[in-house]
Amino acid sequence: MLEFILGLLFGVICYAAHIYFTYELLVWTIITQAILLVLFVAIYRRLVGGRLDVKDRAVLITGCDTGIGHGLAKHLDGLGFTVFAGCYNANGQDAQSLRKGASERLHIVQLDVRSDEDVQKAVDYVKQNASGLWAVVNNAGVEEPGEVELCKMEWYYKIAEVNYFGIIRITKAFLPFIRKSKGRVLVVTSVKERMYLPANSAYVITKHAMGAFCDILRLEMSQWGVKVCAIEPGHFGECTKIVTANHYKASHDAIWESLSPELKLAYGKEYVHHPVNSTSPLGIVDLSATKLNKLIHNMTDALLEISPKERYLVSGYWFDIFVITVYLRMVLPTSLLDKIIMLIWQSNFPKPDALK
Ligand SMILES: *[C@@H]1O[C@H](CO)[C@@H](O)[C@H](O)[C@H]1NC(C)=O
Ligand SMILES: *[C@@H]1O[C@H](CO)[C@@H](O)[C@H](O)[C@H]1NC(C)=O
Ligand SMILES: *[C@@H]1O[C@H](CO)[C@@H](O)[C@H](O)[C@H]1NC(C)=O
Repeated sequence: MLEFILGLLFGVICYAAHIYFTYELLVWTIITQAILLVLFVAIYRRLVGGRLDVKDRAVLITGCDTGIGHGLAKHLDGLGFTVFAGCYNANGQDAQSLRKGASERLHIVQLDVRSDEDVQKAVDYVKQNASGLWAVVNNAGVEEPGEVELCKMEWYYKIAEVNYFGIIRITKAFLPFIRKSKGRVLVVTSVKERMYLPANSAYVITKHAMGAFCDILRLEMSQWGVKVCAIEPGHFGECTKIVTANHYKASHDAIWESLSPELKLAYGKEYVHHPVNSTSPLGIVDLSATKLNKLIHNMTDALLEISPKERYLVSGYWFDIFVITVYLRMVLPTSLLDKIIMLIWQSNFPKPDALK
């Protein structure tokens, strides 16, 4: 709307200037138009494309023990933000290593997003240690593998507790701050907010749900001047530590142990255990990003750009199969996309015993 009005205004001024100077001072017309163009670009940049100063802005981030949260906390501290780094285990080695090289402004806060008590304490802590809060970054997340038929029922609950209820709990608790500052809510929804793949349902469905959560919250908060951004990292599995090879091995062992004799017979040990060396459900671990820089840079954009994007889809690698799947989903019929996904899947995984 603003762009349209500015564009219209610019057009009218140019036209007036043009009529005024016709014939006699064509040169003046060109100069006037050039000056107006520069002015227009400057105003446009300031109002629409500009960036806010960090000043004394404060940000609360969940899941700062490792991975994206850890990296973002350090980066924002370096930029001058007051950072409240929520950690699942604030006394742990990972959390405490945040202090290394950090400023006095960085606070490590005990914050298990599943705990009403932790969250209330964090709210009180922020109240007493900052004059306000500019943004909350919902980053904490957990993941477990397994086909719908194999994945343990309890894992659906476990993942939802963090990736779904945890995000809602944190957002509700901190929104009063954010409304006051006309600030930002960021949700790390993952690329899996907009794509799907086999053997990852307990995780993927929470991400799809959070995509809708962002859309709805964005609408509701627009009248308060609050911006809501979904952060969709592509394949960053290598550096987020959300899943490690050891974790995956333990999970697949646990899956195998939990299966009924019938399911063991149908799927077979080889099939269930195959992904133990892989941290990627599609088995393409080598194509994961190895650094978080780009993602953290984009998240900083979401915090500081005057007009942030609704969604930041960030490739981990130039050939990021997950991000490519998002784009394919926009143009291909579902039946064709399904075939492509299963082709990749089956080229990396053996067949279930009963299908051999
Ligand atoms: C921050 O808050 C905690 C807990 O409410 C309080 O004990 C502490 O003194 C505060 N720190 C500063 C620097 O105000
Ligand atoms: C996993 O990797 C190890 C060592 O590289 C190898 O010996 C083993 O066969 C692999 N397991 C599977 C299931 O691919
Ligand atoms: C992320 O940042 C890079 C520059 O580092 C930029 O080229 C890219 O467009 C950004 N991505 C998004 C989704 O904004």
